[in-house]
Amino acid sequence: MRYQTAMTLLSLMAASAFAGNTPALIPLPQKMECSEGAFQLQPKTRILTDAAARDTGKYLAERLGKATGYSLKISRSTKAQPAQGAILLTTKDAKPELGAEGYELTVTADSVVVRAVKPAGLFYGVQSLLQLLPPEVFAAQPVAGVDWKIPCVQIEDQPRFKWRGFMLDVARHFFTKAEVKQLLDVLALHKINMLHMHLVDDQGWRIEIKKYPRLTQVGAWREDAGFGLDPKLSTAYGPDGRYGGYYTQKDIREIVAYASGKHITIVPEIEMPGHSCAALSAYPELSCTGGPYTPNAKGGIFAGVYCAGKDETFVFLQNVLAEVRQLFPGQYIHIGGDEVPKDNWKKCPRCQARMKQERLKTEHELQSYFIRRIEKYINAQGRNLIGWSEIREGGLAQNAVVMDWIGGAVEAAGAGHDVVMSPTKFCYLDYYQSTNHATEPKAIGNYLPLSKVYSFEPLPEKLDPQYQSHILGGQCNLWTEYVPNFKHLQFMAFPRLCALAEVTWSPKASRNWDDFTKRLQTQFQRFDQLGVNYRKGTPGCIGE
Ligand code: ACM
Ligand code: ZN
Repeated sequence: MRYQTAMTLLSLMAASAFAGNTPALIPLPQKMECSEGAFQLQPKTRILTDAAARDTGKYLAERLGKATGYSLKISRSTKAQPAQGAILLTTKDAKPELGAEGYELTVTADSVVVRAVKPAGLFYGVQSLLQLLPPEVFAAQPVAGVDWKIPCVQIEDQPRFKWRGFMLDVARHFFTKAEVKQLLDVLALHKINMLHMHLVDDQGWRIEIKKYPRLTQVGAWREDAGFGLDPKLSTAYGPDGRYGGYYTQKDIREIVAYASGKHITIVPEIEMPGHSCAALSAYPELSCTGGPYTPNAKGGIFAGVYCAGKDETFVFLQNVLAEVRQLFPGQYIHIGGDEVPKDNWKKCPRCQARMKQERLKTEHELQSYFIRRIEKYINAQGRNLIGWSEIREGGLAQNAVVMDWIGGAVEAAGAGHDVVMSPTKFCYLDYYQSTNHATEPKAIGNYLPLSKVYSFEPLPEKLDPQYQSHILGGQCNLWTEYVPNFKHLQFMAFPRLCALAEVTWSPKASRNWDDFTKRLQTQFQRFDQLGVNYRKGTPGCIGE
């Protein structure tokens, strides 16, 4: 009942950037003080930038230009002081304590200033600035009759966590380069800074590797969309009618550059040693049995496992990782490591010989050997290995980062390893958003309402405070077995990712469910302008 009353009141409000008396920013800034008055955006408003702010200035001018129709002039300025009638973006006099992603945003009736130490902070300041404007600022075409006012405000802001992530599984279902770019735009709006791409799984290999062309010639295609879904729900079919697709290395470079322009790091995941049917369909000689394998989509866990006894497996994976490293400049390479079926290894003379030779007592230790050997290679390439919870089984590799989905964060962080928190209970966006499955598209099972994501606390309660700095942040994951197209992807991601953004960016003490759901109504207006699909504000969405 209370929810409906709030909704009725909100629906009476004209489209604005406000929910109640304060601007409806998501994620909520660390400190925000509002005052009377507003800065009026006009065709003659100038954008002033120093050298470090130039790209962000162009981004702002382009965004404002689309919706207002104004051609805002950008000029170079080395001054630190606000200028009458101008929006100044500058690194001058920025507070170092706000860090690489923090910023100050000051709006008065005369001027706007975004001040930050680094371009990332300037970019986030501009995201907040855009959210101060009416939601129509996100329109793709000029909108008439909008009063382009920016309310007077003083914001000082920086993120609570440095890893604010989203994982997209492009293996179970494929999403095009253009769709990934559209997704990156919306992640940037939420100040999410990590897009983890699950590029490889049993059902598809999605990245071109020049040395091993069969990975995409064979491994990127399967008979049908699979998972018992209506084939018409997807358009990702090749000329021969098979389902699939992949990113060329040129596509990957384009995606990485586009993400970088939005201060988002792409974390590539090349899954091993399990979930490898697609790779083994192309190169079955790398399995224990020699195959055959097919990238199939019947669901469940497959016995697609690389042979850990063959040196050829490691040569292959290192060659793959060498190309991956060239394409992704970020610090982290994800190697999966989850759900490794051990049956083949138990029966394989080569795997058993490896265990004997390396004095490994169990197949879990063989898995650990596998990950450590790969980690040595990744570290030698100057990168960090990250893997799912199971990489702890049989002993964790020396510098590895753990992505915790089923536990182990406290132990890993306590032993000095960095950890990204992604527990199924709070972060799995493939789960149903309502208990009423009759009104929801088919999902994998379980239940994760928006309210549950909003209640997520990335710092494990049992972790000794001295190790808290090892918790890099949090991430929501979208496995796409039952997500065959982009609209559906957006439906599963939003608004639950809005909650994750606030959990990982905003101070814990500021978390307020009622306030968040009010601000969300404005975020929905922004989504409408952007053409982003989302789960509408039914009680099911709000948490039942
Ligand atoms: C996972 O969900 N298997 C990491
Ligand atoms: Zn083997």
